[in-house]
Amino acid sequence: MDNKAKERKSIYVSNEEMARQQQFIEEIKQLNYQRELQTGKKKLYYLATLGCQMNEHDSEKLAGMLSEMGYAESDNMNNSDLIIYNTCCVRENAEQKVYGHLGPLKHLKKENPDLVIAICGCMMQQPEVVEHIKKVYRHVDLIFGTHNLYKFPELLFRAVGSEETVIDVWDSEGQIAENVAIERKDGVKAWVTVMYGCNNFCSYCIVPYVRGRERSRDLDSILNEVTMLGRQGFKEITLLGQNVNSYGKDLGDGTNFAKLIREVDKVPGIERIRFMTSHPKDLSDELIYAMRDCKKVCEHLHLPFQAGSTSILEKMNRKYSKEDYLRLVEKVKENIPDIALTTDIIVGFPGETEEDFSDTLDIVEKVRFDNAYTFLYSKRTGTPAAKMENQVPEDVKKERFQRLLELQNRISKEINDTFLGKTVEVLVEGLSKNNDRVYTGRTRENKIVNFEGNKDMVGKLVNVRIDTVKTWSLEGSVI
Ligand code: 5AD
Ligand code: SF4
Repeated sequence: MDNKAKERKSIYVSNEEMARQQQFIEEIKQLNYQRELQTGKKKLYYLATLGCQMNEHDSEKLAGMLSEMGYAESDNMNNSDLIIYNTCCVRENAEQKVYGHLGPLKHLKKENPDLVIAICGCMMQQPEVVEHIKKVYRHVDLIFGTHNLYKFPELLFRAVGSEETVIDVWDSEGQIAENVAIERKDGVKAWVTVMYGCNNFCSYCIVPYVRGRERSRDLDSILNEVTMLGRQGFKEITLLGQNVNSYGKDLGDGTNFAKLIREVDKVPGIERIRFMTSHPKDLSDELIYAMRDCKKVCEHLHLPFQAGSTSILEKMNRKYSKEDYLRLVEKVKENIPDIALTTDIIVGFPGETEEDFSDTLDIVEKVRFDNAYTFLYSKRTGTPAAKMENQVPEDVKKERFQRLLELQNRISKEINDTFLGKTVEVLVEGLSKNNDRVYTGRTRENKIVNFEGNKDMVGKLVNVRIDTVKTWSLEGSVI
């Protein structure tokens, strides 16, 4: 084996280790089965997920492992035997939410000493958070991080039989674990991770510290997973990674994201392909052409610009200017005229002046995004931006945020208005949450469409004529 191949092999968790975890799954399954025989009830778990799609997908893996261990999911924590919080730390409010949830669990644990409380995910990768939880929330039984998710069966097995809190958080870069069971929430759309970690170190962002360096999965592993999903009847896949555009750089064999989507486009059964997130600095011409050429790749691109001002972008370490971003968008629109664009924007990065902020508004006006996820800058300990001078006062941030929101809402509504009377192709996902006759799905541009339908339509592509337009969704009739 040459050095490169050896290096690649070491990135994967070994088959022996995965087999060891499988043994823990079997052990717990036996315990749960015996209990089920005694009580007539399955053991229940309650799983709460905060944060991004990566976390949602990690929770699908936890659910997959739990299902193999004989647990059933419950949406009520009061009757559960195991409560898990999969946490996020991208912004401070996500962390506060977790602390808010952990406190009241103390009395549940008092009522039911056999209850296991576990907490995992990005927040646990910060040592000061683990210290705080150990000190203040002593009723937590198990703490683990993002890099050792595959070890959950072993950790849970230890936590079930222990008085002490089991803590296992690795600060290593993390490996890739293939063949972890995944229980997908949805039967129509599936997430597929193509790479883990991030090397970009945007100066405000904690992700590279808690998710480790970029590691790409082998092309064949990804294609095998997508092929399986196609066979199982999934119609749409979203390729996931913190920065999917740098997929393959670490493989060293010329594989890149453009090549990957051209391959995924050929997989039978899959009708739609999406991906996120893209970093503007890595969005190559090759990828734009692949998006244009591949019939299944949807006309939607999520392309965070974060801030409009070139000097703020420099302080953010984003590696592009305002003009670079606008030129890139022009190129995308020239090649894919129907493209719907969405973005992420941070308001109130340290040192942001009114003039800087007007560049943010200017990009929003010029690009005309279909939708924007807007965030107040949140100071993250350990990131370079946290130590920068001229932190923007909260009231200034909030006032700018409001102006940005109003502008974006107006544009979103104006774009949606152009759909009035048009017929769009909708992939039907299921019943809408608020009404048992109304079904919901999305257009290729990722717009939500609600319409009267029936359950046979779920998982199918239907044509809907749009009769009503809202800021966040469209309504219409199947034709
Ligand atoms: N404060 C506010 N928003 C942030 N994001 C990342 N870090 C921070 C932070 N410290 C936003 C970025 C990113 C999205 C997932 O979260 O816009 O694209
Ligand atoms: Fe964070 Fe930047 Fe990496 Fe995105 S690209 S995860 S914003 S460091």
